[in-house]
Amino acid sequence: MAGLDHDHALISVLADGLFRLMQSDIERVLFDGPAIHKRLDELAEQITADYSDRELTVIAILTGSLMFTSDLLRRIPLPLKLDCLSVVSYHGKTQPSGEVIFKQFADPDVGGRDILILDDILDTGHTLAAVREKLETAKPRSIRVCVLLSKREQRPREVDADYIGFEIDDEFVVGYGLDFMERYRNLPYVGVLRKELLERMASDDSVMLSQAKHL
Ligand code: IMP
Ligand code: MG
Repeated sequence: MAGLDHDHALISVLADGLFRLMQSDIERVLFDGPAIHKRLDELAEQITADYSDRELTVIAILTGSLMFTSDLLRRIPLPLKLDCLSVVSYHGKTQPSGEVIFKQFADPDVGGRDILILDDILDTGHTLAAVREKLETAKPRSIRVCVLLSKREQRPREVDADYIGFEIDDEFVVGYGLDFMERYRNLPYVGVLRKELLERMASDDSVMLSQAKHL
């Protein structure tokens, strides 16, 4: 028993150290857990009021909107349907390619329905424009878009979100579902990734800063 306790203590110290290492790649926190949850309360109240007279069908764009969807929908006390779309638009880089690939499209039941698309962030608009176009072919009754974050910048694609959690400057952010090369999604806040790391990645594709520190 004493051995097991010792193992747990060791694992917890190690995990704590690794988590700190991941956090050290973050330049600054933009929205912490309580700030996100407070804003989700407001968004959920607005969405609940807007959809109280019709059945909502939520289409969540994976993987970035996973945490956002899960926390937001548990605040909406309405009967609703949930479906997910898996989309790749970044290919592991920080610059948008403009190409949107549907990894799988399980034909969500969209015809005649009131659709609310949920995504983590509106950047160039390519992703949401492509998803919107695809869903529109199935003739929904209405489509609205809700994003946790929206970058204040000129968008190549004219796409508007009907519900926005927070507007942010044009910086690369991670955490609370958002990734950089599939990492940092599990940070409990949204933070700006260190520029140094982005610059380094532009020249060397192979290591994250936190990994480099392990070497
Ligand atoms: P868009 O197609 O350029 O609007 O980009 C939307 C997608 O790009 C989002 O769903 C994210 O997956 C990704 N993305 C855009 N900006 C960021 C960022 O700052 N951090 C992490 N992912 C981002
Ligand atoms: Mg995404």
